[in-house]
Amino acid sequence: MSDQQLLYLSQKDVAAVGIGMSEIIEALEITFRAKGEGRTEMPPKPGIHPGVDSFIHAMPAYIPDLKSAGIKWVSGFPDNPGKGLPYISGLLILNDADTGLPLAVMDCVWITAKRTGAATAIGAKYLARPDSQVVGVLGCGVQGRSNVEALKVLFPLKRIMAYDSDADAAKRYAGEIQARLDLEVEPVKTPREAVSGCDIVVTAGPILKKPHATIQSGWLEEGAFASLVDFDSYWHPDAMAEANKFCTDDIDQLRLYQQMGYFQKIPPLHADLGELATGRKPGRQSATERNITANLGLALDDMAVAPLIFQRAREKGIGTWLPL
Ligand SMILES: NC(=O)c1ccc[n+]([C@@H]2O[C@H](COP(=O)([O-])OP(=O)(O)OC[C@H]3O[C@@H](n4cnc5c(N)ncnc54)[C@H](O)[C@@H]3O)[C@@H](O)[C@H]2O)c1
Repeated sequence: MSDQQLLYLSQKDVAAVGIGMSEIIEALEITFRAKGEGRTEMPPKPGIHPGVDSFIHAMPAYIPDLKSAGIKWVSGFPDNPGKGLPYISGLLILNDADTGLPLAVMDCVWITAKRTGAATAIGAKYLARPDSQVVGVLGCGVQGRSNVEALKVLFPLKRIMAYDSDADAAKRYAGEIQARLDLEVEPVKTPREAVSGCDIVVTAGPILKKPHATIQSGWLEEGAFASLVDFDSYWHPDAMAEANKFCTDDIDQLRLYQQMGYFQKIPPLHADLGELATGRKPGRQSATERNITANLGLALDDMAVAPLIFQRAREKGIGTWLPL
């Protein structure tokens, strides 16, 4: 019998560890640089699909620079909220990169929320104007929150234009973000008010195979940057075609999603975040470019954050040790 142990971290434990957004952005920056230099391993997500529009994905990755190896096993079931259950749930296993032994099993909801915001911030670092102050958010949920939190780490943000198809959600969002992040937040009544006049736009509503394509050409300002957290669901093909540089976080995975029926009408790709982080492909080159990234969410993002949580949890004595 082995006397090896692993650390179990519940959803509450992971949040209680208190990793800051700037640490997450830093870990992702190291990771995307390593990806751009070919030092990471991330096979494309295999998945199973037990119900209509539902998924359970396996997301393994290895980041030698962070000594991080492991896998996220994450599900999204769109009918869950109607049953009083979360849409997204799942677990992450962190392995010892030297021995392969499991070090920790942790809830992955907090990581998924935060690392997606951090990936938007990395895209914005290379593709947005550094003086960006006004952010339009369409979809005032978990991602609407974490994306703004992450952008605030890198940009001198002042004002958020918040649109949600549920007006009460936008109002709740405004109250919370104003208090927590000390930003002016204006709940707006139409999607266009959260796009036109903004320096950065984040769309974070539902992901749809057949986009509703609400955002039209001429809405995104010259010099603006957009992060398409909900894929191309919100964007008319003509509006995406206005981008000078259309990027993603991983080109192979984007091609895979295209085979699955997503991203059918996007413009040609300029670069992925690894190529931008290493300078192999240029980021923004003028104040007037319109730039877009459609990040898919990578296992690399998750595995960049997991070791931080494990180490800090150990230091703080958080979690439950279980026998292997
Ligand atoms: N790309 C990635 O890496 C990544 C990672 C995590 C989640 N996501 C996606 O991001 C999206 C948001 O996730 P979340 O966890 O914030 O969900 P959430 O349920 O917390 O929030 C979604 C919000 O969007 C609102 N909404 C619905 N339809 C809308 C519309 N047409 N216009 C504006 N608002 C609308 C809802 O009322 C809700 O407030 C989902 O599509 C999710 O699948 C992407």
